[in-house]
Amino acid sequence: MKAIQAVSFVTLLSCTWVSSTLALNILVTNDDGFGSANIREFYKALNAAGHNAWIVAPVVDNSGKGGTVDFTREANLTRSSMYNLIPSGAPSFGTDPKDSQIWYYNGTPAACTFFALDYVVKNFWNGTQPDLLVSGPNEGSNLGPFLYTLSGTMGATYAAVARGIPAIAFSAMDGTKRSYTYVNASAPGGKDPATITGELGVQLVNQLASSANGGRLLPLGYGLSVNYPEITSLKDDSCIKPPFINSRLTGMAETDTAAYNASTGLFTYQSSDNFEGDNVCLNGNCTLPGETDVVKTCQTAMSVFTIDYDAPTCQGSQPVRELTMPLVRYSTNESGNTKDIPAGTTIGDVPSSSPTPKSGGHGVVVPSTFSFLGLFCALFSLV
Ligand SMILES: *[C@@H]1O[C@H](CO)[C@@H](O)[C@H](O)[C@H]1NC(C)=O
Ligand SMILES: *[C@@H]1O[C@H](CO)[C@@H](O)[C@H](O)[C@H]1NC(C)=O
Ligand SMILES: *[C@@H]1O[C@H](CO)[C@@H](O)[C@H](O)[C@H]1NC(C)=O
Ligand SMILES: *[C@@H]1O[C@H](CO)[C@@H](O)[C@H](O)[C@H]1NC(C)=O
Ligand SMILES: *[C@@H]1O[C@H](CO)[C@@H](O)[C@H](O)[C@H]1NC(C)=O
Ligand SMILES: *[C@@H]1O[C@H](CO)[C@@H](O)[C@H](O)[C@H]1NC(C)=O
Repeated sequence: MKAIQAVSFVTLLSCTWVSSTLALNILVTNDDGFGSANIREFYKALNAAGHNAWIVAPVVDNSGKGGTVDFTREANLTRSSMYNLIPSGAPSFGTDPKDSQIWYYNGTPAACTFFALDYVVKNFWNGTQPDLLVSGPNEGSNLGPFLYTLSGTMGATYAAVARGIPAIAFSAMDGTKRSYTYVNASAPGGKDPATITGELGVQLVNQLASSANGGRLLPLGYGLSVNYPEITSLKDDSCIKPPFINSRLTGMAETDTAAYNASTGLFTYQSSDNFEGDNVCLNGNCTLPGETDVVKTCQTAMSVFTIDYDAPTCQGSQPVRELTMPLVRYSTNESGNTKDIPAGTTIGDVPSSSPTPKSGGHGVVVPSTFSFLGLFCALFSLV
């Protein structure tokens, strides 16, 4: 992690000196495209909190591409970008005319990850490896293991994890495709849902920064997947502060079936609940609730994933979860962790957490000693 220049930083909410050691270099991508409200609000919130965030995202909607790496064969765009932000005939990659830290590329989300790392970072970002890649928030949930191969939002993150970069996929329940120009600053329930999910994402990023305290944010091979519940602020304030809750990928997760439509003679996909194969708990902590259940009420689900697809002999995700504590809890009424962290917090506001040892006595995992994870794993398998 490269400490970036210390800057004094004042928000309307609070006066906070950003600690330069906690400010992160962050790549922000998604699958809905570089002009979406969700990604722009997240990007704004990260920079407002003192991080150095850059968007590098698809020029048009690339939903459902999973981890597919598709580089364009056209030097120039053959049609205009989403929301006509870039005209047809412009180069297939470049920056937003209004913001040189916002890049677009005509490819899949995973291709954008590689374009970002091997072109933008190399040529426009001093070549230093980013501390983190965040993807989303997706316009729509990504609940369960089936989405791991289907979701472009997630595909961008495991492409980054494969390159050794900690990554977090964020997904929002509202699937409405919205341009960043449609953010409502005076929604009945407070801020626009895109603004709220952006600020919630900053809380998690800041919690990790605080736990890592200058070291790697997540151990090699690990990533996080976050699903927000429906944020109701466009109607009311009944769900605008969903707490972060630990979840697992399996558990009430959906997969698809092929639905035949006799009048069109075509098949379409239909989401279908709770097939056994998709919901058997093999790697996860099976006492945790599934993501689908967590987001049903006003809670945010956070799962831990790895890109080691081998079947497990042990369970190593607990030390990673501790890096997200106390922000992420085991239940909304978990004792000692009920204090709300207000939206819009900046880096300095996150309680610096020294994770307390959990019962079981495996101790605290310090970010600089991630190799300890392997030992933890070995010990665990002996029990
Ligand atoms: C792409 O557009 C540029 C101008 O922006 C032009 O010089 C170039 O010839 C075009 N390339 C192709 C393959 O059409
Ligand atoms: C690269 O270095 C320059 C000069 O030190 C600095 O202004 C800029 O913020 C750096 N860029 C990134 C992405 O770190
Ligand atoms: C934003 O919310 C206000 C308050 O409900 C409403 O009057 C306005 O129409 C909304 N604007 C948009 C662009 O949705
Ligand atoms: C089948 O397709 C027709 C034509 O698009 C549509 O109106 C109808 O709702 C579809 N039926 C089902 C069950 O999806
Ligand atoms: C599993 O989850 C429970 C909460 O449901 C938590 O108390 C426990 O520490 C977790 N154990 C491991 C090994 O991850
Ligand atoms: C937490 O609250 C739920 C209801 O909101 C209740 O069912 C559950 O028993 C509570 N758990 C604890 C540990 O108090």
